[in-house]
Amino acid sequence: MSLLEVNDLRVTFSTPDGDVTAVNNLNFSLEAGQTLGIVGESGSGKSQTAFSLMGLLAKNGRTGGEALFEGKQILNLSEKDLNSIRAEKISMIFQDPMTSLNPYMKVGTQLMEVLMLHKGMGKEEAFGASVRMLDAVKMPEARKRMDMYPHEFSGGMRQRVMIAMALLCRPKLLIADEPTTALDVTVQAQIMELLNDLKRDFNTAIIMITHDLGVVAGICDKVLVMYAGQTMEYGTTDEIFYKPSHPYTIGLLESIPTLKTEGEVLPTIQGNPPNLLNLPAGCPFQERCSHVMDSCREHIPKLKNFENGRRRACFWAASEHTAEGASL
Ligand SMILES: Nc1ncnc2c1ncn2[C@@H]1O[C@H](COP(=O)(O)OP(=O)(O)O)[C@@H](O)[C@H]1O
Ligand SMILES: [Mg+2]
Repeated sequence: MSLLEVNDLRVTFSTPDGDVTAVNNLNFSLEAGQTLGIVGESGSGKSQTAFSLMGLLAKNGRTGGEALFEGKQILNLSEKDLNSIRAEKISMIFQDPMTSLNPYMKVGTQLMEVLMLHKGMGKEEAFGASVRMLDAVKMPEARKRMDMYPHEFSGGMRQRVMIAMALLCRPKLLIADEPTTALDVTVQAQIMELLNDLKRDFNTAIIMITHDLGVVAGICDKVLVMYAGQTMEYGTTDEIFYKPSHPYTIGLLESIPTLKTEGEVLPTIQGNPPNLLNLPAGCPFQERCSHVMDSCREHIPKLKNFENGRRRACFWAASEHTAEGASL
């Protein structure tokens, strides 16, 4: 049994202009200790995927399909059942740490509260465990920092506090939604390294959500590339990086800065993601695709399975870009 198995996950929002399908039949699974990257431009449905798993959708949103965590459906749980899953089994970190931290409370108090509430610890035990967790996220002078308020920390240190808080109850799954997007590049690299260490030390499975395919390379086992709520391509990180087979993935890869391209103007994918209220017939990526064909405008390419569990939804069949052994 997988730690998490997501089958035909849908997220639909009712709006005055009609229903918006932000997540459209997503399928993936995650084993204990594994890391899955969910990658796509802004608006592709990454956060709503995470929110649906955490029971955090906006009021006008509803879910379809199933998400089995240790075999148990976690979509549409009651608030009570959700509270016993959140923090203890699944926890989430966000782009902006201040969404999870209370600005008026000392960091130590906030960490201790989690342990007292979820683990029934007394004050002293919670204090010790909180300091140890701050040490684990490589917070310098952890004991002293317990007494400080969130605004006294730098952005990177605040993100470490949030990671510490998320891991306090040793969840089996950590969902990280653009955790480094607001940080500068050096701090970003430090946080990714920290997550990699923690994943090894705690055997935590991670869903790493990012718009930057470059971020997933060092940490993810598998990558799911999303566009307009749909899976464009899914495979091991190596295959996605070295043998990308979807024009959208190739476009994302080409826009990653490397040392070689420093100073050059990087190619970007022309145009913008489509309006979800008014999707074209056929493939949602057609307007921006350099390989678009007539069939792409008429039919939605089905997500097909290839070797090694790889999947992609595309009619383009350039053999040099197609997964080995693929039959189209
Ligand atoms: N409360 C809402 N009501 C209507 N549409 C929404 C709502 N929240 C999100 N959406 C739609 O879902 C799309 C995907 O959002 P999101 O998952 O946040 O994207 P991202 O990939 O940038 O995280 C948005 O572009 C928007 O169209
Ligand atoms: Mg988002």
